[in-house]
Amino acid sequence: MIEIKNLNKAYGNLEVFKAIDLSIKEGEFVSIIGPSGCGKSTLINIVAGLDSSTGGKVMIEENEVKGTNTDRVMVFQSAALFPWLNVQDNVAFGLKNICKSPQEIKEKVNDILKKVHLYKFKDKYPHQLSGGMKQRVSIARSIVMDPKILLMDEPFSALDEQTRMLLHNELQEIWMETKKTILFVTHNIREAVKLSDRVIIMGARPGGIIDDVKIQVSHPRKSTDSNLFYKEEMVFKKLKGEIEKIAREELGDAYNFEENTVSDRIGNTMGDGI
Ligand SMILES: Nc1ncnc2c1ncn2[C@@H]1O[C@H](COP(=O)(O)OP(=O)(O)OP(=O)(O)O)[C@@H](O)[C@H]1O
Ligand SMILES: [Mg+2]
Repeated sequence: MIEIKNLNKAYGNLEVFKAIDLSIKEGEFVSIIGPSGCGKSTLINIVAGLDSSTGGKVMIEENEVKGTNTDRVMVFQSAALFPWLNVQDNVAFGLKNICKSPQEIKEKVNDILKKVHLYKFKDKYPHQLSGGMKQRVSIARSIVMDPKILLMDEPFSALDEQTRMLLHNELQEIWMETKKTILFVTHNIREAVKLSDRVIIMGARPGGIIDDVKIQVSHPRKSTDSNLFYKEEMVFKKLKGEIEKIAREELGDAYNFEENTVSDRIGNTMGDGI
């Protein structure tokens, strides 16, 4: 479905990553995790067609990515909703060009709003919604277009822990029902392991992929599943060295990872801001 082949990216002299090869199957949920600045957003933006590579290519089915396309939609960290439109009109916005009748639009919008538990709020405006609700609208607005691929760059990182967990469950349900291919960038190990079939670990810049951890646990998953804890620890160990590398570069050799890491390091956002 998505084939990333020998992808390189540099901004002038700054080499972000090189020789990235990644193959994602139709319907797979794949997370990308890695230290800040390693190029996660750059990579997902190239897949979206919002940025270009300096070498290599991205293929979606048989077509090389040359720009944006309706087969892919991006959900960002902050929901960029139209403040002058209510929830249903925000979700309906992109449908005007592809639906035959207002009735068809209404049905699609109502259906997706029920799925993200926002039907009761369809007449509210963005300023009347919580952060979690706004992000749900943003996800609904993307899914309603029925793209083949959903690209998500830290979509839940601005939310509190409880809201984040609710949205994990909703996203998991939507994914199980629609079987979209999802590429998901996060700093949160627990989130990556809970949601994904595979967690791709990127190394410190100039980096690339250093590991591809398969999470073979059936869905729907619960955060308390002990199989997930084991995988979280595995991802943590692999990521630790990369985060240490950057911390030492920026904070000096005296930096001690164990001393500077809180006990619940996996659930917490790791490497954010380093
Ligand atoms: N438009 C740009 N021009 C120059 N350098 C850029 C540009 N965009 C990103 N960079 C640099 O490329 C590197 C990778 O950035 P990117 O945003 O992809 O990292 P990231 O892994 O998403 O980080 P974070 O986890 O903090 O979001 C960084 O060093 C960044 O400073
Ligand atoms: Mg980023």
